Amino acid sequence: MSLTDILLVVVYYPFIEPLKTAFLLLAAVFFGMAVRDFFQRDSSIKRNFPLFGMGRYIIAQAGPPLRQYLFENDRDERPIPRYIRKWIQASATSATATVPFGTQLDIDKPGTVLMRHSAFPRPAEYHPEGVVCGERRRHPYTVNRFNISAMSFGSLGKNAISALSAGAKIGGFYHNTGEGGVSPYHLGGGADLVWQIGTGKFGCRHQDGSFNEEAFAEVASHEQIKMIELKLSQGAKPGKGGILPGEKITDEIAAIRMVKPGVDVISPSRHAEWDDAEGMCAFIGRLQELTGKPVGIKFCLGKPSFLDDICRAFKSTGIIPDYIAVDGAEGGTGAAPLAHTNMLGYPLLDALMLTENALIKHRLRDEIRLCASGKVWTGGDLAVAIAAGADWCASARGFMLSVGCIQALHCNTNFCPAGVATHNAWLQRGLVPDVKAPQVARFHEAVIHDFADVLASCGYDNPSDLSRKDLMKVVGWHDIRPLSELVPYPWDHAAK
Ligand SMILES: Cc1cc2nc3c(=O)[nH]c(=O)nc-3n(C[C@H](O)[C@H](O)[C@H](O)COP(=O)(O)O)c2cc1C
Repeated sequence: MSLTDILLVVVYYPFIEPLKTAFLLLAAVFFGMAVRDFFQRDSSIKRNFPLFGMGRYIIAQAGPPLRQYLFENDRDERPIPRYIRKWIQASATSATATVPFGTQLDIDKPGTVLMRHSAFPRPAEYHPEGVVCGERRRHPYTVNRFNISAMSFGSLGKNAISALSAGAKIGGFYHNTGEGGVSPYHLGGGADLVWQIGTGKFGCRHQDGSFNEEAFAEVASHEQIKMIELKLSQGAKPGKGGILPGEKITDEIAAIRMVKPGVDVISPSRHAEWDDAEGMCAFIGRLQELTGKPVGIKFCLGKPSFLDDICRAFKSTGIIPDYIAVDGAEGGTGAAPLAHTNMLGYPLLDALMLTENALIKHRLRDEIRLCASGKVWTGGDLAVAIAAGADWCASARGFMLSVGCIQALHCNTNFCPAGVATHNAWLQRGLVPDVKAPQVARFHEAVIHDFADVLASCGYDNPSDLSRKDLMKVVGWHDIRPLSELVPYPWDHAAK
């Protein structure tokens, strides 16, 4: 037997022949699809150029992941640039989280916000004190400076919620339930919870969607629930309600949300319980009274006159929310209409400063705490937001990354490959809560650590010492101004 014969027996027949058959089969399938495309009527490109149209579709699908992995540089990706994602992943997994060789950002580019450090730094205090919220309630709560922002069981799967809750418990910060009700997975990790109530009143509603006081009081009395948050709007889709399609409403979700399984549920764009700011105050007062716990409101700022309206109502009714959560228009969501995501609402820093100015002007600043969310992902972001007026911050997408989100941008399809924003059991298998929970806590610790370092570099011991005077904005080339000059306090307000 010659060498050629041996090669024929060992390689050709077992491997090349089946490959040839597979190739012919594939070609036949493509030909069949091309014939189908030639006669279909929806896509003109595929009807005119069936094979080219098919190739174009495949390349268009492959484009985003290819760009993300191969072509985009560290600052390009949106909404979270790769250098931030790398930092969060590194800090969550205890890898090296420092950066080499200097900044990659164009820090003299107009619009950039920077901090003004002191010539006399302080020693860093790595456990900056929390903020007491609801001093006048029966159960005030001391809030950590950095927390998990609202994300419901529904937008995230049970494994992600369980990991976040357990991580928050380890790190001693709160986990906001989002508007989908209090799920066993929020409770399971043992974390302090903020129960968010949106327009759908999920978890405290009658079948017609109206507020169910008894159900509310029962759930709110749970020891883990430390504060209640009334959601007026959120940055990614301000002024927009939502529809939860019936097919997504499993028996479990239906029971948690108090809705019918398999039937579409509408979240209106507004709360049915009030028509004006005074009505909203009455509702806030009812919740404060029923629970004895701090009650806050969350919104994304649209018309600034709203701030004066609510402050006047707080004064006239004497009912004052314990905190206001300001969500910047740059905030995230699972799914939103394009127009609402891109075109509506104030970005975080401006909204925060306008809100704080209104509170100072109406002499309410000492009574109302401010929470900020919207791309607050690092210790530096936290320091900037606190200097711009926040008492504490919350992040949603930062914590999603800490449990393994790779920004695949599939939150709206139930096909999140990292098992975070999905209910698909197979995909969720990849996210092991016991492994991810410590990552959540480590990411939080890294943010607080960097924040403490920045605070010390600015010459302060206490986060509350930060003010707009510590921030500067590049407004033009060679024109950098303190934010306290660009957005002045209503009067010479000595910080906070
Ligand atoms: C998957 C997902 C679900 C969200 N669900 C809610 C929600 O139920 N209620 C709410 O007020 N905000 C919701 N948000 C907005 C966040 O709570 C947060 O305000 C916003 O994303 C800004 O934080 P970030 O920039 O750190 O993501 C959600 C955001 C994401 C990404």
